[in-house]
Amino acid sequence: MSNYHIKHLEEYYQVYRKSVRNPEVFWEEIAEEHFLWRKKWDKVLSWDFKKPKVKWFEGAELNITENCIDRHLYTRGDKTAIIFEPNNKEDEAEHITYKQLHERVCRFANVLLDKGIKKGDRVCIYLPMIPELAIATLACARIGAIHSVVFAGFSSTALATRINDSECKMVITSDGSYRGPKTIDLKGIVDEALEDCTTIESVLVAKRINSDVQMKADRDYWLQPLLDDAYSDCVPEIMKAEDPLFILYTSGSTGKPKGMVHTTAGYMVYTAYTFKNVFQYTENDVYWCTADIGWITGHSYIVYGPLCNGATTVMFEGVPSYPDFGRFWEIVEKHKVNQFYTAPTAIRALAKEGIDHLEKHNLSSIKVLGTVGEPINEEAWHWYDDNVGKKKAPIVDTWWQTETGGIMISPIAFATPTKPTYATLPFIGVQPALMDEKGTEIKGNQVDGRLCIKFPWPSMARTIWGNHQRYKETYFSAYDNMYFTGDGALRDEVGYYRITGRVDDVIIVSGHNLGTAPIEDAINEHPAVAESAIVGFPHDVKGNALYGYVTLKETGESRNHDNLRKEINQLITEQIGPIAKLNKIQFTNGLPKTRSGKIMRRILRKIACNETDQLGDTSTLLNPEVVQDIMDNVL
Ligand code: WTA
Repeated sequence: MSNYHIKHLEEYYQVYRKSVRNPEVFWEEIAEEHFLWRKKWDKVLSWDFKKPKVKWFEGAELNITENCIDRHLYTRGDKTAIIFEPNNKEDEAEHITYKQLHERVCRFANVLLDKGIKKGDRVCIYLPMIPELAIATLACARIGAIHSVVFAGFSSTALATRINDSECKMVITSDGSYRGPKTIDLKGIVDEALEDCTTIESVLVAKRINSDVQMKADRDYWLQPLLDDAYSDCVPEIMKAEDPLFILYTSGSTGKPKGMVHTTAGYMVYTAYTFKNVFQYTENDVYWCTADIGWITGHSYIVYGPLCNGATTVMFEGVPSYPDFGRFWEIVEKHKVNQFYTAPTAIRALAKEGIDHLEKHNLSSIKVLGTVGEPINEEAWHWYDDNVGKKKAPIVDTWWQTETGGIMISPIAFATPTKPTYATLPFIGVQPALMDEKGTEIKGNQVDGRLCIKFPWPSMARTIWGNHQRYKETYFSAYDNMYFTGDGALRDEVGYYRITGRVDDVIIVSGHNLGTAPIEDAINEHPAVAESAIVGFPHDVKGNALYGYVTLKETGESRNHDNLRKEINQLITEQIGPIAKLNKIQFTNGLPKTRSGKIMRRILRKIACNETDQLGDTSTLLNPEVVQDIMDNVL
């Protein structure tokens, strides 16, 4: 039996028990046998959730790109590492072998060095899903620079906030991007952002759409000529196990976005190990995750996890609806995709279009299906199972978070019997707990509570960039000696977990985490707005949509409400991005508040969800009269 590759349920239970009884012995064996180290560790694990401080493989030295690329050169040099499928289907797909990837990453790394980027410097990457995105992240890792990828759908304000928070020295972007039939002026967005940033010394610009862009002298450089001139080999920087690999921002329920810091060795070991097992990747498979590398799913399961296993990973530049809703299936057929990993919101959008598109394509290559990002509803699960997997491909419903770095609760394909809407069992080494609101662990089965993790796992985020106190308060203060996920979950009669959703003020819209506070801040900047509150309500494609309650400064305001709604959504688009736009905006005379002045979002949520029979006692509110008024005018 190999602990690295689990194939049966009994094996899962055996390996799981080992990993929990003696985590250090277990992870040491995995790390030792399947990765390339320049120096072995002195200590496998030290931890203290009270501080919180967690270190894995302390004393070890390595470079993650040697694990993702160099070590495959002899055995798989001519194997395709990345298949790039462009936005326009008429354009040719690109197949990048491990040898070519090595050369391209090395050249890029040399360009970074040449522009003065050193180990520990932060580099912001704001690129569409083109090969340069994966290559840029690996090039940073090659020289020990910390990448901070910002999803290219974020606005200039959101980009500036992220650049400033981690004091990036460089931005890597492109002239523009394709998004279905549209083009987006990425360089223009960067220019706007940089008006508010003082730490950026240089901007590298990839050419993608051949648009006319302004290049600022001594700051902006076209990427390609620099790559052409760069040397094609680059000695990797030797990193310590706990050196930061990247920062990735995620929304919190309050305050500015949190720059989650992931470190090198533990992240590498865990993402590689989960990738191999959850998807049951075997040597000649073609694996496709439809996420954007701007999110954690792309970091861990397009780039690092797959490449560490010498896999062939697909990168798709476009959207599922362009040129029509058959695009995903066409790509599956064209590249003979074996593992297909996407989000429930995409499944629901595709299901809405019926099965005509599916029937036009041969999907027989598919062996495993995956989902991630939000709870999958039963209907979408069955549609995926029946029509895409033809009931032969197990669905791995993978629960995890930006903060966890890798998959935490999930079936192992072919080993774990699946159950619709259930993420099923904890992955190897993961020790979940369900807690009640008083802080007591709820033992046994057929229970529900707040999902926590009791023991460290290798790929957990180590801190929030520049704010360890916030890291402690957000994740380690709600429950003693435990990591709190912010999610609720239930455990069924056999110990399977089902994630029921967020228990805080984070709302997941189309698989994107959105904090209510930054959206409310954006709305409140409108001169006519006194205050606002955002809640989520169910939406058949997006999972949740946003409902905004807005009180204007002058009640009885004579301005046209439709215009105000447009202006509010425009502000949100500018401050955050179009993903945070509100579906419904109700103007109110006031918002329900507690006696201490806190907005009661729970009540507002019930009203937006049409569950007013469950409002509970509202008489203790500061202003109970507004509740009826809001109910009378609900949209
Ligand atoms: C939610 C994405 C139910 C959850 C990898 C979590 C899920 C948040 C699932 C993290 C799933 C993710 N079932 N809910 N399979 N996967 N979530 O940071 O609420 O973008 O806390 O990481 O998404 O989202 P994030």
